[in-house]
Formats: sequence, C-alpha cells, structure tokens
Amino acid sequence: MELIDVFAICGSVRAGSLNRALMLAAQELAGDPFQVEVWDGNAEVPRVDATRGRPFPAVVAALRDRVAAADVLLLVTPELNRSIPGNLKDIVDWLGILAPPRPLAGKPVVLMSASPNRFGGAFAQLQLGDLLRRSGAEVLSDLDVAVGYALRHIDDRGVLVGEDPRREIAELWQRVLTQIHADRQVVPA
Ligand SMILES: Cc1cc2nc3c(=O)[nH]c(=O)nc-3n(C[C@H](O)[C@H](O)[C@H](O)COP(=O)(O)O)c2cc1C
Repeated sequence: MELIDVFAICGSVRAGSLNRALMLAAQELAGDPFQVEVWDGNAEVPRVDATRGRPFPAVVAALRDRVAAADVLLLVTPELNRSIPGNLKDIVDWLGILAPPRPLAGKPVVLMSASPNRFGGAFAQLQLGDLLRRSGAEVLSDLDVAVGYALRHIDDRGVLVGEDPRREIAELWQRVLTQIHADRQVVPA
C-alpha cells in the first residue's frame, strides 16, 4: 500500500507534556500505511510578523515546505485559557501566509488534544479547527480524540496507557485512512 506521510506538531514545549505523550501515542498507533514524523522545532520558530514579499526565516521556510509535502498534518494542542498556546498560533499563522507553497491549502489535518481537566482541550481544538479552515485546510477530525482527565491515562513515563483514548486514536486513524483513499480516487477535473 502507498505510504501516507504524516507530519506531527505538538503545541507544548513543556517538559513532561501530556500532549507530547499523546502525539507519541498517535505515532505509535498509526501503523501501516502511515508514517508519522514528529517535529520538535517549536522553540526555534520566531514570533509571526506577517512577512509578505520578504524571505521567510529559514526555520519557517523549511517548516512550510515540509508541511506542504506531507499527506497529512497532525496537530496536538494543549488548552490554555480555553484557547491554543501562542507558539502553536504562531506556527499556524506562519503556515497560513499566502505565499507559495500554500502549505495549508487543501491540506488534510488531524487534531488531537489532552488536558488534566474534564473537556480534554476541546475548546482549543475547536478554535484550532476554525483557524485552519480559514487557511483552506481540510480538518478530518471532529473532537474524536480529546483526552480529558489526562493524568489518569498518561503514566509517569509519559506513555498513554488509557485503553479508551488508545482505541479512539486507532479508530480515528482508520477513518483518516478511508478518507485519504477516497480523496486519492477522486480524479481532478
Ligand atoms: C495559563 C494556563 C491556563 C490553562 N487553561 C486551561 C484551560 O482553559 N482548559 C484546560 O483544560 N486546561 C487548562 N490549563 C491546564 C493545561 O491543560 C495543562 O497544564 C496541560 O498539562 C498543558 O498541556 P501540556 O501538558 O501538553 O503542556 C491551563 C494551564 C495554564 C498554565
């Protein structure tokens, strides 16, 4: 089966991040034909400055190219004050700037979140979906993986051990696989 290249970004730069643990579980559970590459460059990304017509900072240009090349973008977001963290907002804004290669235009995106609280980062995830759609992305998930009370599901080693979230992740990847296959069978006019 043809590989599906997934590029994964987590919006937390915190040591011991619950969302990073979730991202690693998503990588582990994806299985064939997905190949999930985890990105760790958040700390290098400068604040967005609406650059247009000027060269992007090198790290941003590389990120835009990599996202443009990916079949699927996986974004895993913490929730801070019912919103997404600033570093992730910067990344999404950089990716959304209207210059070639338009990394988010038509890009299939999968969203996940985790929080120690009840709603599992659902508010942040909904906001992130709105932001991405503004840049033309195709959001494939609908709060399918929003891990509430995450400290019950992620152990001290940072491993997602909770059976329910693990099943939800596996089921989401199956739906994504079906969607990607359907998209690939559509012959452009
Ligand atoms: C300033 C601040 C605001 C927060 N606001 C929320 C919130 O609105 N909703 C929520 O579920 N958790 C909230 N939290 C808790 C975070 O979800 C929690 O710290 C989580 O572990 C952060 O993600 P990480 O572990 O991946 O870094 C907040 C935490 C901080 C520090």
